[in-house]
Amino acid sequence: MDSLYDASSDSICRVAEEVRVCKRCRLSEYRSNAVPGEGADSAKLMFIGEAPGRTEDMLARPFVGSAGKVLDHALARAGIDRASVYITNIVKCRPPMNRRPRRDEIHSCMQYVMREIMLVDPKVVCLLGRTAHDTLLHGSFREHRSRYVKHGGRLFFTTYHPAYVIYNNKLREIFVSDIISIKMLLMSND
Ligand code: URA
Ligand code: SF4
Repeated sequence: MDSLYDASSDSICRVAEEVRVCKRCRLSEYRSNAVPGEGADSAKLMFIGEAPGRTEDMLARPFVGSAGKVLDHALARAGIDRASVYITNIVKCRPPMNRRPRRDEIHSCMQYVMREIMLVDPKVVCLLGRTAHDTLLHGSFREHRSRYVKHGGRLFFTTYHPAYVIYNNKLREIFVSDIISIKMLLMSND
């Protein structure tokens, strides 16, 4: 994104339309559907994952497969309505065999997530896992996990990727308590 970006002439709808037909990187060749972000377009809380998985690629919606269930469960435990948040990914097309997105793919796709952040303008951006963390923040995932970092005038919170905690009760509890702690912060700011 350059400094000439003008959010007043852009919109979340427009980002989604561009994503659906995007061919800026090789991931377009493998997808069934590109997966734009979804949710409230002026949400106070935004979640950013890594990349769509198989279910997301089929349904063209983010976090609707097994990782999505973990996220939904954590949102429910925190008393957060999924429709009140905005959920997106670093890359919008599923990498083949669910491999990690490559650096050049992330680079090609990054303008979309940057526009989503500026347009939604959330109070807190929650980074789900290492790919989202390492793409948007400097420093180490390990040091930032379960913590807030202010970057570019915006508050970022880093936690595990929900797919990473699926089979580990201890990590899943940490994940849930992280989401609850974000909810508490947002309530105290209201
Ligand atoms: N994992 C992600 O990072 N994003 C999704 O949308 C689904 C699974
Ligand atoms: Fe475009 Fe991003 Fe999909 Fe690549 S991953 S084709 S940059 S939407």
